[in-house]
Amino acid sequence: MAAPVVDADYRKEIEKARRDLRALIASKNCAPIMLRLAWHDAGTYDVTTKTGGPNGSIRHEDEYTHGANAGLKIAIDLCEPVKSKHPRITYADLYQLAGVVAVEVTGGPTIEFVPGRRDSSVCPREGRLPDAKKGAPHLRDVFCRMGLTDKDIVALSGGHTLGKAHPERSGFDGAWTSEPLKFDNSYFIELLKGETEGLLKLPSDKALLGDPEFRRYVELYAKDEDAFFKDYAESHKKLSELGFTPRGSTAKSVADSTILAQGAFGVAVAAAVVILSYFYEATRRK
Ligand code: HEM
Repeated sequence: MAAPVVDADYRKEIEKARRDLRALIASKNCAPIMLRLAWHDAGTYDVTTKTGGPNGSIRHEDEYTHGANAGLKIAIDLCEPVKSKHPRITYADLYQLAGVVAVEVTGGPTIEFVPGRRDSSVCPREGRLPDAKKGAPHLRDVFCRMGLTDKDIVALSGGHTLGKAHPERSGFDGAWTSEPLKFDNSYFIELLKGETEGLLKLPSDKALLGDPEFRRYVELYAKDEDAFFKDYAESHKKLSELGFTPRGSTAKSVADSTILAQGAFGVAVAAAVVILSYFYEATRRK
């Protein structure tokens, strides 16, 4: 499908949808599942084949019935009234906006949102999202396939500061922190504490402790919430823009190169004037 035209009206609709999502998330307490929806739409990206990614394809039955997406139809349905009210906004933008708002309204960092993602009806094959029963090599395989780094893996895993696992969806049970509707660095604090009665640690969470590269970020984020918020906001933005080149950035680079070209032309004219006046002076003196 074609990319939406991001004009002033589209941006206005985005701001209205942002307000509607804030109200929806506050009234339904559904920040965690909204964040999971945004992540699962984006997390299918394959940097080599340039397929998957934040393109709204998760709205199709083919994809939301993948085992890893169990329960996400709830979030898709919650977004539908917002889509009906703002039909110009693509599903791809709407789901990523919902993820950004979910983090913001629960006390997390502000994440820059650039609109303009196109929708796709092509669903990726099942199996691109990470398996919670696996360890560090698997996490690296999956996130490197997306084009993301070790730091992104640890920072984004901090998304588990929100919400909980549901036995009927994933087979796991319980929340990662004692305040699952508050976005803070307690996921990392709990991870370092070890097992706590009533709190969950997936094998993929524990894998962050066993690997020295991952562990250094876990330790940093547990002691420095500002560092976590800064890195999380950067990694979340990257995740939400996998395979997406905002139109504005092309326009900006065209504008930049025009300014550069104009600058270079100016320098060339000035140089020509200096050279010509030198020759003029030189011939006059003869
Ligand atoms: C690193 C690999 C990851 C694995 C293996 C993983 C796995 C899981 C599993 C098994 C659940 C429980 C689902 C359920 O039973 O309802 C879950 C929930 C959740 N995940 Fe992840 N996840 C990963 C990364 C992420 C990332 C990158 C984010 C966001 C940035 C995220 C956000 C969430 C949230 C918010 C929930 C709670 C959903 C709810 O309360 O309904 N996860 N994840």
